[in-house]
Amino acid sequence: MEKLTLENYRDLTQKASEYQLINDRALILLGDSATILKDTPCHFDRCISDPPYEFDAAGGKSRFGNKVNSFEVMRSKGLADGFDENIIREIAKTADSVILFHHNDQDYAITGLLTQPYSELDFIDDEATPLVNISRPALYDRFVKCQWRKTNPMPVANKHYVPETEPWIHAWRAGKFAPGGELSEKMRIIDAPVGKSDYDHPTVKPLKVMRKCIINGSNKGDVIIDPFAGTSSTGVAALQLGRLYIGIEKDPEYYEISVKRLRGCLAAFETGDIEENQFILI
Ligand SMILES: C[S@@+](CC[C@H](N)C(=O)[O-])C[C@H]1O[C@@H](n2cnc3c(N)ncnc32)[C@H](O)[C@@H]1O
Repeated sequence: MEKLTLENYRDLTQKASEYQLINDRALILLGDSATILKDTPCHFDRCISDPPYEFDAAGGKSRFGNKVNSFEVMRSKGLADGFDENIIREIAKTADSVILFHHNDQDYAITGLLTQPYSELDFIDDEATPLVNISRPALYDRFVKCQWRKTNPMPVANKHYVPETEPWIHAWRAGKFAPGGELSEKMRIIDAPVGKSDYDHPTVKPLKVMRKCIINGSNKGDVIIDPFAGTSSTGVAALQLGRLYIGIEKDPEYYEISVKRLRGCLAAFETGDIEENQFILI
C-alpha cells in the first residue's frame, strides 16, 4: 500500500495554518489553496474537485415562493463566487487528469480553462513587467462532459429549467492517462438522489457520484488532490477505493468535519469493519 509522506508535501504544510496527516493516507490542510499551491514543487497524480460555483444566487425560491435556505448559506459562505483559476493551473503542472464540477453558468470558462491554448498575458499582473504574448498548448488535450442526474431535484425553475443535473468536466493528457473503470462504469451520466447530509455543509456531494469520479479519474495508489475539499467527500471515496488523498479547505468548520470523516473512514479499515473497496456511507 502506497503512503503519503510529510517530507514530500512539506511545501504545502508549511503554508497551511493547520494540517493533519491521517494514517499516512490522507493529508488535510486548513488554508487558502491559492496561497498553499502557489509555485509549489509538489507532485499530484490527479485532481478531483467540486469548486465553489459561480452563479446568481439571488433567486433560490421554491415553487411555493419560500427562500431556499441552502442558497442563503451558499451566499454567506461565498459558495456562489467562483474561484481563482491559478489554483487549477498550478495543479495541472503535474496532474495528468482533472475532474471539475461546475455550475451551468461556468461551463464556458471552465471548459476553456482546461482545454484551450492560453498565453503568457494571463500570468502577468505586474504592470511594470513587459508583456510577452507566448501562446502555450492547452492544459489538456482530451475531455468529456459528464452529469450527475438528481432523482429528487429541488422543485425550482424561476424562468429557467429545473436544475436536475450537475455537470462535471473530465480533462486528461492522452498517452499519460486514460479514463478507468469497466464499460458499465464509463457512462457519462449517473443517477443519484440528493441525500440528506449529516454534515453541516450546503453542497455535500453523494458518495455514489464521487466514487464514479474516482474510478474514472484515477488509478489505485494515485495521489488525488482536492483544493476545495469541503467535508472531503472526494477524500472518503478516494480512501475507500485505495487511493491517497490531499485536501485543502479554507473554512475551519468544514476542515474539522473533513478531519472527522477521514479519521472515521480509515478507522473503519483498521478495525476490519470494512474492507478496502467496500463502499459504505461515512
Ligand atoms: C462546493 S464546496 C465542496 C463540497 C464538497 N464537495 C463536499 O462534498 O463536502 C467548495 C469548498 O471549497 C472551499 N473553498 C473555496 N475557496 C477556497 C480556497 N481558495 N481554498 C480552499 N478552500 C476553498 C469552500 O469553503 C467550500 O467548502
